[in-house]
Amino acid sequence: MAHQWRGVINEYFDRLDIEKGSKVITLGEGGTPLVHAPALAKLVGAADVWLKVEGMNPTGSFKDRGMTMAVTKAVAHGAKAVICASTGNTSASAAAYAAAAGIKSVVLIPEGKITLGKLGQAIAHKAAILQVRGNFDDCLVLARDLSENYAVHLVNSVNPDRIEGQKTASFEVVEALGFAPDFHVMPVGNAGNYSAYFKGYLEEFNEGIIKAVPKMWGFQAEGSAPFVAGHPIENPETIATAIRIGNPASWDLALSAQDCSRGEFGAVSDTEILWMHRFLSNEVGVFVEPSSATGAAGLLKNSKLGKIPTDAKIVVTVTGHGLKDVGWALKDEQGNEVSPTSCSNSAAEVAELLGLEKN
Ligand code: F0G
Repeated sequence: MAHQWRGVINEYFDRLDIEKGSKVITLGEGGTPLVHAPALAKLVGAADVWLKVEGMNPTGSFKDRGMTMAVTKAVAHGAKAVICASTGNTSASAAAYAAAAGIKSVVLIPEGKITLGKLGQAIAHKAAILQVRGNFDDCLVLARDLSENYAVHLVNSVNPDRIEGQKTASFEVVEALGFAPDFHVMPVGNAGNYSAYFKGYLEEFNEGIIKAVPKMWGFQAEGSAPFVAGHPIENPETIATAIRIGNPASWDLALSAQDCSRGEFGAVSDTEILWMHRFLSNEVGVFVEPSSATGAAGLLKNSKLGKIPTDAKIVVTVTGHGLKDVGWALKDEQGNEVSPTSCSNSAAEVAELLGLEKN
């Protein structure tokens, strides 16, 4: 059989904090494409931009890299159930990996605030789901409390196993390019992923594989931007539901990553996020969920502020698949629902509707 990608634990075993002989719970996560995006490079005035397309993971988001580690270790410690708070992607991933491991998953989601695609995934993987009357931050407090007092293992990114697994994305970027980019850009919610990428790059630097760590640029939605405000936000609001988080779990780790990489945090409006969501699918060919376009939207904002050198090589992580949240794709720029025109099976009629010229 030809070589098949074996998932991040098997591919990077020697570089992960995991015991030999552990039964690996994997769905083949990682090994995602690094897509060259000349249209985006042109838009922002950089030499090269690549997208790390994390929607290509088994459950459609980057969470799977951390979840294989968290669930593998939970099982090694004898856990019979895992729990998480989630804006949707973590719960989809936790539920899938728990199903693969043959254990239970419990997910706490903010009522009415996760997309149907993500809810469908958690249901499909038979999670026990509760909608909490509150926001993500309330769900996380509850999940932590339950995991401390009941027999259920926490798999949110406050669990260091998650960060450990997610750092493998940096390894892949360096392997694909042969160098580290000047800037690494991504959306930020809890900042677990931002911290994980920095950890990965720092390890590559310490091992002498790369000459410098990229400047880490993290972007939040304006109504939900605690890192920009410098303090938690009590009632975060944004259409980017995946990153509607006011009290980030990885606050200290992220600030240290920002500091060490000479990076920065910024905020973009929902309008800027939706514009970039459309640009990525229309002009680059990569369909992401709106929240995932936040990093690229921030890159454009920084380009307008003159912060991007023309010789810059930039990687932007797009975190989740567009199919997670098709609602925004089904609207045009004015916000009207798009509905394809109905037609008969007559070639002449179809050609006329399409304005095709006869050859
Ligand atoms: N992008 C997407 C698509 C996400 O789902 C998340 C987080 C982020 C970015 C931000 O990552 O929290 O590590 O800074 N989603 C979590 C969830 C909160 O529950 O699915 P972060």
